[in-house]
Amino acid sequence: MNEALVISSRGDDALALVLRTLVFECLDSTNDEARRRAECGAESGTVVWARRQSAGRGRRGRSWVSLEGNVYCSVLLRPCCPLAAAAPLSFVAAVAVARAVGEMLPSEKRVQLKWPNDVLIDGRKVSGVLLESGTDSSGNVDWVSVGVGINVCHFPEETDYPATSLVAEGLVTWEVEAVLKSFLDHFVQWYRIWQTFGPARVRAAWLEQAVGVGALISVRLHRETLTGTFVGLSEDGALLLAPSEGGPIRLVSAGDVFFPGMVAAPTVVPVF
Ligand code: BTN
Repeated sequence: MNEALVISSRGDDALALVLRTLVFECLDSTNDEARRRAECGAESGTVVWARRQSAGRGRRGRSWVSLEGNVYCSVLLRPCCPLAAAAPLSFVAAVAVARAVGEMLPSEKRVQLKWPNDVLIDGRKVSGVLLESGTDSSGNVDWVSVGVGINVCHFPEETDYPATSLVAEGLVTWEVEAVLKSFLDHFVQWYRIWQTFGPARVRAAWLEQAVGVGALISVRLHRETLTGTFVGLSEDGALLLAPSEGGPIRLVSAGDVFFPGMVAAPTVVPVF
């Protein structure tokens, strides 16, 4: 294992999150390493960064292709809160990525957020977030790993949702380390906002940059696809959907969003 030294440490007051970044040439998954470190007592603010991953994971059991040239990192946090209250940390990460990416690209590029925590550039996915956690015996959060992938110079071609990279969108001079640092700077700021003002402030920032709010969307769930109007977010970040066929608002806590004109690949239901 190729662990290097600290590359970033920020924070000038008691509430500030101080980051300590560990660099690896290759890991199975930075989220797995963050979990292993958490279980051995690593501190909140530990950042696990790998140049490549051999078993990178996306949401909903998908794999995350992890060639050298993109950002793969996990921020280990130990917020003192119940599990549900930690869910908005994925919005903290998505907003931080969007702000970092927005600063790097030509101003005509439109950076948007897609529920639950994808970052899009002109409608194509450039980044995803995978939140994983462990709880203590009373059900409170012991640790959270905020896993972030940012496509800097590669992106997968055959995905359900179109993808892109920063380089494909016009980033001319780039270094993975600089992209990571910019993301971490924004992450620290937004984590502080979450701690100080609470999740509503982060949700509001997310909604300001979100795509599809008030519009017709399809949400592919495990066993069905729902269609309706995306009317907002619940307190813990679930998508609120007003079904097209009428009836009560549906609360969707996990799924993939598609917009009209896109073909949502059919839900695969196992046959027993
Ligand atoms: C998604 O959009 O499906 C989430 C993708 C998250 C990928 C990142 S890369 C760093 C961290 N390690 C992983 O194995 N996954 C996350």
